[in-house]
Amino acid sequence: MFMFKKIGIINSGGDVQGLNAVIASAVIYGAKLNYKFIGFIKGWEGLLDLDYMELDPNSVKGISHLGGTILHSVNKGRFAGKAGSDGTLSRIPDEIINLAIENMQKLEVEALIVIGGDGTLSGAIQLVERGVKIIGVPKTIDNDLNSTDQTFGFSTAVNVAVEALDRIHTTASSHDRIMLVETMGRHAGWIALHSGLAGGADAILLPEFDFNYDGLIKFLRWRKTVGRNYSVVVISEGAKPIGESVMGVDIGAPEVKLGGISEQIMKKINEIAPGEFEIRNVILGHIQRGGTPDAEDRVLAKSYGTAAIEALHNEKYGHMIALQNSKLVEIPLLEAVDKLKLVTPEAMAFQTAKRLGIFMGV
Ligand code: F6P
Repeated sequence: MFMFKKIGIINSGGDVQGLNAVIASAVIYGAKLNYKFIGFIKGWEGLLDLDYMELDPNSVKGISHLGGTILHSVNKGRFAGKAGSDGTLSRIPDEIINLAIENMQKLEVEALIVIGGDGTLSGAIQLVERGVKIIGVPKTIDNDLNSTDQTFGFSTAVNVAVEALDRIHTTASSHDRIMLVETMGRHAGWIALHSGLAGGADAILLPEFDFNYDGLIKFLRWRKTVGRNYSVVVISEGAKPIGESVMGVDIGAPEVKLGGISEQIMKKINEIAPGEFEIRNVILGHIQRGGTPDAEDRVLAKSYGTAAIEALHNEKYGHMIALQNSKLVEIPLLEAVDKLKLVTPEAMAFQTAKRLGIFMGV
């Protein structure tokens, strides 16, 4: 067991519901073990610019149920551990790594809790290589981190999408329309799959299974012939037709911003089957990341926060806390970010959707 003077907390990348609960629970439990804390503002940028706030049990009082993060966040900056549309690993320049280490020494921060997705944790690995004591906490609504069964934020994002789908159903039915509902998730279809299954979607298009327009239109026509006067299609933002590339725009961030596929599908169906269907598309966007965490995410986030302190206390540096078979375990950071966790045909929700006759792309 090693006693640190001070622990730094960093959250970086897109926010998720539950970040404040991780921060608060780490500080509350850590204070009981006599640790002091500072939180860096806007992720790694705060460490590089010496922009931070002191954290103690008083300053984190009453924040666990709030969405967003009191530390603010950015998903670009000087500490990008991943780059390009495919998120390949990139080396952070030595002078940036050196500055981060120097600033930690200046502030007498002896260890870091880094809360992030694969991009943030890939950056953290490069500090671990230089001997910095780090514990990672997985964070993403996409639930696409390998080695952890569930990240906090995912459950709330799915619930937000399901609530939207419940509302979409009633208006779709009144107007006999096809409603295309686009969800987030990047290259992983978990949000679309779970919200689509829970929210009664008729078709679900996922990034992992390229779809075919003829198959989709045939399915929509068949629904009409059997008297189903409307259809709800959930589309993951990373879904794409066979032989085409994923839709997105380069906004100068480390990774291309995905989105717009539902609009494209609407246009294409109208082109192939003019006048046959009345179609509208809805992009759920950032409401999936906003607002208060649900109960499941709060429990998960608080458990991750306290487990991170426990891991630092037990000198398990260079590890990420992961949920495996309902238990929190520590796994090497390198293992945590080596590949994305994608939907496979064996996934329980995928098989269930198929059994129920939900159109899954082909
Ligand atoms: O990775 C989380 C996520 O919400 C993705 O699902 C989505 O594609 C992306 O972040 C959106 O990023 P931004 O907040 O930069 O628009």
